[in-house]
Amino acid sequence: MQISKIGQGTGHKGEHLETYNKDFDSVVNNILAGVENGLTLIDTAEIYCEGRSEMIIGAATKDIRKEVKIASKFSPTNHKRDGVLNSIEGSMNRLCTDYIDLYQIHWPNAAVPLEETLTALFDLQEEGKILEVGVCNFNYSQLKNAMEFATSRKSRIYSAQIKFNLSDQFTYKAISSFCHENDIKIIAYSPLRNLLNQDNERLRVLTRIAHSSGMSPAQVALEWIISHRGVYAIPESSKLKHIKELGKVGQNPLDSRSITLLNQAFENIVENLEVKLIKSKNKKRLLAAPKLTRKEIQSFSLDFCPSITDLASEIEEGNFLQPILVRLDENDREFYEIVEGELRYWAFVYAFGANSEIPVIKI
Ligand SMILES: NC(=O)c1ccc[n+]([C@@H]2O[C@H](COP(=O)([O-])OP(=O)(O)OC[C@H]3O[C@@H](n4cnc5c(N)ncnc54)[C@H](OP(=O)(O)O)[C@@H]3O)[C@@H](O)[C@H]2O)c1
Repeated sequence: MQISKIGQGTGHKGEHLETYNKDFDSVVNNILAGVENGLTLIDTAEIYCEGRSEMIIGAATKDIRKEVKIASKFSPTNHKRDGVLNSIEGSMNRLCTDYIDLYQIHWPNAAVPLEETLTALFDLQEEGKILEVGVCNFNYSQLKNAMEFATSRKSRIYSAQIKFNLSDQFTYKAISSFCHENDIKIIAYSPLRNLLNQDNERLRVLTRIAHSSGMSPAQVALEWIISHRGVYAIPESSKLKHIKELGKVGQNPLDSRSITLLNQAFENIVENLEVKLIKSKNKKRLLAAPKLTRKEIQSFSLDFCPSITDLASEIEEGNFLQPILVRLDENDREFYEIVEGELRYWAFVYAFGANSEIPVIKI
């Protein structure tokens, strides 16, 4: 199956429930504009905006189904066989389709054997309800296990969706060789997130390259991503002007000098930071880590899947998925606040205690 190098992310489509009906047509039209501009891979998930993202995509694509590739995902709470089978029926209904091009595991879930989930997926593939099977947010060993099982079923893992952008190359570095060896496509999510709103030397390098090559910084950041072998990206935009810009990515590949400058500017930005200098962003527990017991930390994730303890076991095995994003606390400049990765932060503290250091990217 061929997919467009740049696709459309839709995690926020249908986000505002109060204006959902009023905005419906304009969001649908934006998706169609994306398709007209070549962004024919559309990424969604059952969980996005409680199914409204899939409903919007269904409305947009029902008359042009063959022109697009729809990638959806099911949640970790639905990893058992019945859960997978129920999830796909719900997604296909909302998406107004009787097949999904790429069906992805949204997050690993250690509580259900991977073989059970994958067996359900490969059975769906044999029935023709899924064309390809993909995974998201898998670390190296989870991906390796998935690929081994797929091979035993004479099938394959088509893609691994990971967070990958100029300022977060951590997971890419961990899995890219394996993906190349096994012909697994890498789909970069959040390829622009928290990148363009910074004020630092790295962004100035990006902006200079953009000016000299007649592109916008967003286009350069995406050209850089797809300059990597076997890598695709799914930016999300709510603006027609930006969507048209995204459609031009791929037409103006970066020269090797620009790639080198970007690699140098964004090199080694992962650093280790004492966990006790980081504050949770959740207002209910604005506490520095040392004050909390393991039991209290565990209780933070009762309604999350994967749980803090599942993530902590992976981290203890050396599989930290990706650094957390932090920024200086404006009101208390000795501390940092978490921008992304709250659960991973607490899993890390659970695993290694409050005197440890955690990999972070400061923005
Ligand atoms: N598998 C997973 O666990 C996972 C996790 C997160 C995300 N995802 C997927 O990845 C998709 C994208 O991720 P994301 O929404 O986190 O981040 P993103 O697409 O990297 O960033 C979105 C931001 O980029 C801006 N933008 C887009 N095009 C632009 C352009 N041409 N010029 C300037 N700014 C531009 C958007 O603003 P405007 O709206 O103003 O254009 C928006 O603020 C999601 O929709 C979802 O499908 C998957």
